[in-house]
Amino acid sequence: MAGFTDKAMRQICSENGADITWSEMVSAEGLVHNPPLPTGRGSVSWRRDEGSFTRNKSLKLAESFSGEKNYIVQIFGSNIESMVSATKIVENKIHPKGININLGCPVPKAKKAGYGACQMGEIPSVVKIIKKIKQNTSLPISVKTRLGISNPKEILDFAPKLEKAGANELIVHARTLPGMFHQKPDWKIVKKLTTTLKIPIIYNGGIKSPEDAVFYAQKTGCLELMIGQAAIGNPWIFSQIKEYFQTGKYSFPNELEKKKTILRHAELVEKYFGEKGFVIFRAHLASYLKNIPDAGAWRARAVQIKNLNDVKEIIKEIHFN
Ligand SMILES: Cc1cc2nc3c(=O)[nH]c(=O)nc-3n(C[C@H](O)[C@H](O)[C@H](O)COP(=O)(O)O)c2cc1C
Repeated sequence: MAGFTDKAMRQICSENGADITWSEMVSAEGLVHNPPLPTGRGSVSWRRDEGSFTRNKSLKLAESFSGEKNYIVQIFGSNIESMVSATKIVENKIHPKGININLGCPVPKAKKAGYGACQMGEIPSVVKIIKKIKQNTSLPISVKTRLGISNPKEILDFAPKLEKAGANELIVHARTLPGMFHQKPDWKIVKKLTTTLKIPIIYNGGIKSPEDAVFYAQKTGCLELMIGQAAIGNPWIFSQIKEYFQTGKYSFPNELEKKKTILRHAELVEKYFGEKGFVIFRAHLASYLKNIPDAGAWRARAVQIKNLNDVKEIIKEIHFN
């Protein structure tokens, strides 16, 4: 999720049970047209981050944390050459487990530039992009898509074309473009896909609890699930879901565990991004503090934090129950 799943959040989710992690959407044009300068001394100011030198913002966005095993980088774009080159850059510099193509971003800026969800209406060109990428990489290529631009049944027509083009996996966000992020997911369409396509389908959309996870897995037949918004401020959802699948019940983190996780997350933010990372962490912290007594006041404080010390102060004073 753009603006959220940076490597600090992904590491926290991994440590709490997520089996696969996904980058924020990364611009193919950004990767290609602002390539990293060669390592070495020069007149430019280099920034050191975990041993790698880069000044390419897009590449930085795609970087993994050390030990991130099942990591997929999502790229977006509509230019075939840029998508192929971007894949090669990511393959050579980041070494992820796979590349994912974004066909789901619904924001007006994406439509204007011709990438994201609007590409569900340009399937012949997406097919060309997939085929060409496949000829130029050994990495598996997956596609993340919504159900359609206006009608949820559109995917029944275009998904087989993506499979035929060589997509190794589809991640289906079970909403249409106008459904944005809160429309009731249409799991019946996803079920149809799991019975007609040969490639695996990851179900995505509306999973807010372990009960939801079991519901959508059983209804659709998908063996893998993707969690989006519900993981923000709640990385425990991954282990809870696993526990629920295995035992039929699940436990909640206690106050100490919650505080430990928030502190760990904040320490990772400082490690990877320094003090400037805390502007982004404000939204995470505000989500961690949802549904607690006097939540409004705590969240008002959370959105003003500037550094790790501010987070530590809040953690010291706060009570979750
Ligand atoms: C703030 C935000 C940013 C998102 N960024 C991306 C993105 O970069 N790439 C992507 O494929 N989906 C993105 N999504 C969509 C989610 O990955 C997911 O498909 C959607 O939220 C539905 O899943 P959920 O109901 O579990 O949240 C984003 C969603 C939100 C709310």
